[in-house]
Amino acid sequence: TYVVTDACIKCKYTDCVEVCPVDCFYEGENMLVINPSECIDCGVCEPECPAEAILPDTEDNLEKWLELNTKYSAEWPNITQKKEPPADADDHKGEEDKFDKYFS
Ligand code: SF4
Ligand code: F3S
Repeated sequence: TYVVTDACIKCKYTDCVEVCPVDCFYEGENMLVINPSECIDCGVCEPECPAEAILPDTEDNLEKWLELNTKYSAEWPNITQKKEPPADADDHKGEEDKFDKYFS
């Protein structure tokens, strides 16, 4: 599966949802997550994210993100269409420690 990581927090560009063939993105206040049981591993979303927030879970040290994607995709609503990102999205692109600062 692919997972959304903390680079998405406060950016939420939502380019990813437009390309997903199985509509498996879910939206929280500050970030999106992927439902790992729905993701078919096609990989098309990864290069679409301007914040480079989407990674395959075969990369190292992504257990935390896999857990978070699994947990919140069961709670948050499905999102299937791109929408305007937050006005300050670009200010938060590439920022460090976004999970600790903003994820509640
Ligand atoms: Fe959707 Fe493919 Fe990305 Fe999985 S890898 S979330 S199926 S676009
Ligand atoms: Fe987030 Fe990137 Fe999608 S910033 S909303 S994972 S395009």
